[in-house]
This record gives sequence, C-alpha cells and structure tokens, in this order.
Amino acid sequence: MRFDQPATTNPIDQLKVVGRPTDRIDGPLKTTGTAPYAYERHDVAPNAAYGYIVGAGIAKGRITAIDQGRAKSAPGVIAIVTAENAGELGKGNFNTARLLGGPAVEHYHQAIALVVAETFEQARAAAQLLKVSYATAEGVFDLEAAKTSERRTADRNSTIGDFAGAFAKAEVTLDETYTTPDHSHAMMEPHATTAAWRGDQLNIWTSNQMIDWTRTDLATTLGMPREKIHLMSPYIGGGFGAKLFLRADTVLAAIGARMVRRPVKVALQRPIMANNTVHRPATIQRIRLGATRQGKLTAIGHESWSGNLVGGKPENAVQQTLWLYAGENRLTGTRLAMLDLPEGNAMRAPGEAPGLMALEIAVDEMAERLGMDPVEFRVLNDTQVDPANPSRRFSERRLIECMRTGADRFGWAQRSVKPAQRREGRWWIGTGMAAAFRNNQVTKSGARVRLDGRGVVTVETDMTDIGTGSYTIIAQTAAEMMGVPLERVVVRLGDSSFPVSSGSGGQWGGNCSTAGVYAACVKLRDAVAQRAGLPAEGASFADGMVRAGGRSASLSEVAGDSGIVAEDTIEFAELSKRYQQSTFGAHFVEVAVDAYTAEVRVRRMLAVCASGRILNPKSARSQVIGGMTMGVGAALMEELAVDKRLGFFVNHDLAGYEVPVHADIPHQEVIFLDETDPISSPMKAKGVGELGICGVGAAVANAIYNATGVRVRDYPVTLDKLIGRMPTPGA
Ligand code: MOS
Repeated sequence: MRFDQPATTNPIDQLKVVGRPTDRIDGPLKTTGTAPYAYERHDVAPNAAYGYIVGAGIAKGRITAIDQGRAKSAPGVIAIVTAENAGELGKGNFNTARLLGGPAVEHYHQAIALVVAETFEQARAAAQLLKVSYATAEGVFDLEAAKTSERRTADRNSTIGDFAGAFAKAEVTLDETYTTPDHSHAMMEPHATTAAWRGDQLNIWTSNQMIDWTRTDLATTLGMPREKIHLMSPYIGGGFGAKLFLRADTVLAAIGARMVRRPVKVALQRPIMANNTVHRPATIQRIRLGATRQGKLTAIGHESWSGNLVGGKPENAVQQTLWLYAGENRLTGTRLAMLDLPEGNAMRAPGEAPGLMALEIAVDEMAERLGMDPVEFRVLNDTQVDPANPSRRFSERRLIECMRTGADRFGWAQRSVKPAQRREGRWWIGTGMAAAFRNNQVTKSGARVRLDGRGVVTVETDMTDIGTGSYTIIAQTAAEMMGVPLERVVVRLGDSSFPVSSGSGGQWGGNCSTAGVYAACVKLRDAVAQRAGLPAEGASFADGMVRAGGRSASLSEVAGDSGIVAEDTIEFAELSKRYQQSTFGAHFVEVAVDAYTAEVRVRRMLAVCASGRILNPKSARSQVIGGMTMGVGAALMEELAVDKRLGFFVNHDLAGYEVPVHADIPHQEVIFLDETDPISSPMKAKGVGELGICGVGAAVANAIYNATGVRVRDYPVTLDKLIGRMPTPGA
C-alpha cells in the first residue's frame, strides 16, 4: 500500500481496541521469566559452548603478538578466535570500526579475541591468561582540543538570511556555550547472541532492534548469502539505539560456532560494553540568539562540535533548531573532529536529546534577559511553517497547546520569576520548563496476517519489541481491523523469515509497523470478503463476523481449514516531503536543592505531548516516563568519563556510570493531547518513544537555576558545579 494521500476515515478510527490502555500482552512472559532471551536459548542450543570476548587494552596501535599458550591449555578451552584464524571478514554498512580487531586496534576494548570453552567461567578464566603485546600509537581523545586542530574535518552548515548581520544588529543577544558529555545506553540486557550452524545455514538468536539491517551486515561480514542466515530477536531487554546494528557478540558467536562445530553463546560482559560498542557522543554547542526588545527572535545560531572515529558521523545536535522557533536569519551547523575514542552513534533521540539540553537552556536565559516568562517567549516565537521553506507546513504542531496545558496543570503561575526566592527548610525550591521536539520519521514496513479456521488472526513481521509494547499495539491494530477480540490475535515478531518491517529505531516503529499491519489487514479483509462472496467495498468486520450488503458470515467459517493469508508493505511517498512531520511536547520540573550540600532532588515532573494518535496510552505513557527518567539521568548524573591520556571511558560499568534509580525519580505525570495526524500514516499516529527524553535535561537545569540562581551550562549538573556558587543559606 502506498500512503500518498492524507488518511481518511478507516476502521482504526472505531477505537474499539486501538487507543485503549491495554496491558502488555507479553507481560506474563516477562514477569514469570519465561520470555526466551537470546542468551537463554537452552531449548534450541542445549549443548552450547560459551564464548568470552577479549577487548583491546589500548586505544590505538597494533597487536604485535598474542601468546595463547597458557590460555589454550586452560581447563575447558575449545578454541580461541582471533583475526589470524577467523578468515576474511567483510565490513557491513553500519559499523565504523571492525567488530574483530587485530593486528590494527582502532579503539579501546575493540574485540580482539573470543575464547570458547565448555563453561562461561572457564572461558573467562582462560581469557585472563591470553598475553597480548601491543605497539601503541598516539591517539587523539580530547574533543575540546581536537575541535581547533587538524583533526577537525567536515563542517556542515545550513543558513537562511544573514545570521551574522542580524545578530550584530539585534537589540538583545545571547552568546553562550553548552557542553554535554558522552552517554552510555546502559540498557538492562547486554548484547547477546546464541549462534548455531546446520551445514551452511546459520541460525542466530540475538538481541537486536533491526532484523534486516543486521542480517544483511552479518552476511556481508561473514561473506555468505543473507538467505542462509536466520536471525531471531523476539525479546529484547532494552536497546536505546545500542542494538540498531550488528555487534561483536553476533559476529564472534557465529565464527566461534563454525570453528568448534557446535552452538556458541556470547554475551558482552557489562564492563566492556561502554568501550566495545557505541555511545552518544559528547557535544560542545555554541548558541547565539538575537531578538528585538519585544522578544521576537531575529537571529538563531547553533553550532555543535562532536567527535567520532574516522568514518563516523557527527552528533546532529542542531536538528531541532531547524524547526523549533521562527526567526528570519539562521545558522545551524555540525562540526566533526576525528577522535580515537570508541564509536559514537545513535542513542535515544540522537540529535534532539543533546541538542535540546543546550538550546532550551539558552532559550530560558534569553527569556530572562528579555524580562519575559519562558512560556510566553516560546509562544511568541512559535512557527507553523518550516522556517527554511514557508510553503511547507507542519502536518500537526501543537507546541503552544502543550506549553499552555502544562503551565496550567503544573501551577506555573505560582513560580517566582526571580531565582533563589523559595525555601522549604534546608531546600531551595525552583521550577523550570522546556519545549520538547522530535522529528517523526516514516519508513516502509511489511507484515503478513493469517486468518485460520478457529477465527484466530496471526500477525508475522520482523518488527521488534525492545520493551516498548510493539506486541501489544500490533495485536490491537489487527484486532481492530479484523473485528476480533484481542485474545484472538497472535503476534509473532523479530524473525528474519517474516516480512521486513520498519524495525525499532528513531521512534518510528510504533507508527510504521502498525501501519504495515494495517496494510496487510486491508488485503486480508478483501480476501475474506471475496471468499465469502461479499462485496469488499463497504464490508464491516466486527464480533468475528464480516457483514456486507445485508448478508454476513463468520470469519472462522470463511477461513475454513485452509485459512487465508495476506501480506503487504506500507510505503510512504510524497506526503512526508510535502509536510514537515514532528512531535511536540513540554516538560515541567520542580526541584529542591540542598542549601548546604547542593544536592539536587527532582520533586515533580510533568510532560504534555502532542504526538498524533496514541495507540495505547498505557504503553505510550511508559515510554514517556522512561524518557523523562533518562532525561533526569542526563541532567544530573550520566557521564562517561574520558581518560584523555589513554583514550577510553573510565567508568565502564553500572557502578561507575550512574543512572537514576527509583529513589531518584518522583511522581511523573504525562498528558497526551487528543490529536490525530492523517499525514503521518493510516494509523494517524506518530512516534512518542523518544519525545519523552527531549527537553527534560534543560527543564531540570532551568529549575535548578530558578531554585538557586546558579546557571550551569556543563552537563551533568552535579553538586560540585553548584556548591561554590550557592546563595547564602541564611539569606
Ligand atoms: Mo533509536 S537511538 O534510533 O534506537
């Protein structure tokens, strides 16, 4: 199905099943511990051997020798995979560094060997006995230093009007620099794979967000036809972007299994994940704003520096600045410096998440300079068209309504405009807000649906559920389309033998994968009507029956023993180019800051989101509060500490890389505006899974400023950055 006209009324609009706060249908499997995760496939690989990855001990250079003597003769060891014996390896589309290093080492903890043994403990013990010798080369690890050196490469600029001229002439200006550190995905389930060969057929059970990308890259890496790989990822314990692409666990499990002629499982041990895989790159962002005294923005400048390995991309932290506010003269651009740190890549809302952490503090600061309320300043500078192309409108844009609703519900009017005015015992209290923005991407997505003689609808698609609720919203979609109760729908996901879907990434999965199921169900409805001898046009599906032209038939009887199968792919055409499609929100936060220790406690959080139709308010809310929680982490604690001499992330485990725990997170409220977006898909839904994190960091930082009068532009806002600048406690 080509989606090239705005959606009109369709069966989803009945909202008998879609739009309800349905519990997760995979919930019982999760809570009883019976959902089979990749590393636990004892059922399919009962005799699996265990692989343990050895990561490079230097950031850059060459391996001169690997002495395997003691490791090889250690108890239980079956094989040791290195670049020497792994065979020729190709390079897939998505990885910057090679997934098996040697002799050249491209980054710290790059995989350089896999020790395969009878047990995990034996593999781990033997791995410690490998003696690796290196010739270390000099690397570049400091973004601030590299940004002005010859390591700086591509500058990408986008300009409108005359930014420099308008900024110079502006009545009120701001020119500040903000920094965000490297972030780690820190999802619960590590990267993990069980690999088993049957002849030349490779079966992979793994934890991955994008089945088709990963299967293709694995085929390229191993130099084999992709049809010979069956890749399965039905349950995933979180991804946040770390599992978008093929990683070392999968490649090395496959090579190890081929070498030892039996199944091999490999999980990345937690302490190598931060340096072996990917992270959200640190940014240095310079923001310049110019406005009239009345508060109209006339010049908007946002430049962002980030680093990556050679071949990697910049963090696009200026993305939201293209669309969030009006302003005739604009300069946005990314600057990239080549660093020898591990590869930077997508993490939840890449671009907008770190970009809004900077932009939305700058906007708060500018409102203060103008003597304006931060909400009113944003309202005044709203735009309903793409600033780069005024004939291009937003499909839906209710940013103002989000902010007004939030201000009302949060009690924004009670806020003291002047900072450091409100005390409760030892705490300074303050509130802050920020706008939320994340683009809505659409990408084609396929599904197969089968109606059987019991009246059960089975959906198959290679879509993944990374903890987001895909199983549930897909079941709701099929139930609505076919007129059957939810209990009559079976959803099978994450399998490369199913039609290729959008996968889970960039918050596109919810809208696009259900739209693919919608398309397949439209075909199935036609096939059912036809077999029943009913006109397809005007047929209605409800209560397990199809009705048309005054006649009806039961779905199970029509399907009969043979059943009926339909398959289709939704493809998005011109609409996504004709309209700017984005999702919007507003975050409101109240913090308390200890007057003596500068400890920050978040006390209240509210998000208001305008994100198209909400397919399941319960799972959508969970996505948003998860994003808000990650936003608090980014605001207050998360930071991969860089060793700038040796070139690695020092705090590479969950003891050193701090993320919020339950005690850090207060009551969170989420309001979804009642919205449908007929431009985005027949579902009229948009992404929501990443919107929740966008803007939160700045809302927290702005609240801290309101509480204390201390402006911190360098995340995370830890107490050491506050304590020397706090207002006198007795004052
Ligand atoms: Mo997302 S960062 O595209 O999983």
